[in-house]
Amino acid sequence: SPPKILVTGGAGYIGSSVVRQLGEAGYSIVVYDNCSTGFPSSILYGQLVIGDLADTERLHQVFHEHEILAVMHFAGSLIVPESLIHPLNYYANNTSNTLSLIRCCQIFGVNRLIFSSTAAVYGNSSSNPISEAEIPCPINPYGRSKLASEWIIQDYAKSSALQYVILRYFNVAGADPEGRLGQMSKTTTHLVRSVCDAILNLKPSLDIFGTDFPTRDGTAVRDYIHVEDLAKAHLDALRYLENGGESQILNCGYGQGYSVREVVDRAKAISGVDFLVRETERRLGDPASVIACADSIRQVLNWTPKYNNLDIILRTALAWEIKRNNLNNRRIHNII
Ligand code: UFG
Repeated sequence: SPPKILVTGGAGYIGSSVVRQLGEAGYSIVVYDNCSTGFPSSILYGQLVIGDLADTERLHQVFHEHEILAVMHFAGSLIVPESLIHPLNYYANNTSNTLSLIRCCQIFGVNRLIFSSTAAVYGNSSSNPISEAEIPCPINPYGRSKLASEWIIQDYAKSSALQYVILRYFNVAGADPEGRLGQMSKTTTHLVRSVCDAILNLKPSLDIFGTDFPTRDGTAVRDYIHVEDLAKAHLDALRYLENGGESQILNCGYGQGYSVREVVDRAKAISGVDFLVRETERRLGDPASVIACADSIRQVLNWTPKYNNLDIILRTALAWEIKRNNLNNRRIHNII
């Protein structure tokens, strides 16, 4: 069988988009996913091995059975409040499982790794935009469990032939413009998804968490990146490593921010639905403004985003929610 890209967490929101792009680009793929939050139906290319990263025997078997050219490591837990309640689960699933995976890479001589990290490693940084040179200072177990993984990768790389690209994602949103893939998780906490639910009457109102931030309109500002562009960054990172590129840590964002109010206003304008908005207290631990300095990724990977546009992010997310929820009335048809 042909050499493959191993994609952990390939059944998830971001992983499945990357698998699709890899498949379209002609790569052979093996997905390793325990399907705890991912869905087998999201995997449009390659083969799926249902397994947990903590199951080292199963993982070894995959490395043994397939010639692995590179590993893309998406599998992990990512809900900040949950990480405060179950920190050890986060260190186990994020940090310890990354260590097991790297050990496998060591044993089987796999020397290319692309790792999903997060802007959460920066914590409450006052720098805006935030560059990769900033010293990370995460403020919750989620961010710390990811930063610890980054350290493992960096330390191992220094002592071996491993070449890595660590991608620090900012606020990922949107869906496949062709409607094949999008967010599938059952619970809604992210802003874009919450806004879609409010438009579609799946929830009675949208809460704005905090209106007293030191920002232009008092609401929190984030750098929203379309999942398709983020997925493409992974393919660019893979090509970069294939061409012998040096290890890198790169922010994934557009370098511009929108406030919660701006997102809400655009969503109302696009949909024509004037959903109810309630202004409530700040959510615990939310920073005022998180914007990527996104120069490096463009320079190093030659990454050229195609969907750097809040309206496209909102429209594709909304179209996906309509499809996923099987909604089919005229009010909603008019939206898209
Ligand atoms: N928000 C609302 N109402 C909602 C949902 C969100 O006002 O119904 C606000 C939040 O308070 C925040 C902003 O919209 O100010 C964005 O919130 P999200 O939940 O969409 O995203 P976060 O910025 O909180 O989280 C993202 C990633 C995390 C990562 C974190 C790092 O999803 O994985 O950035 O700061 F840890």
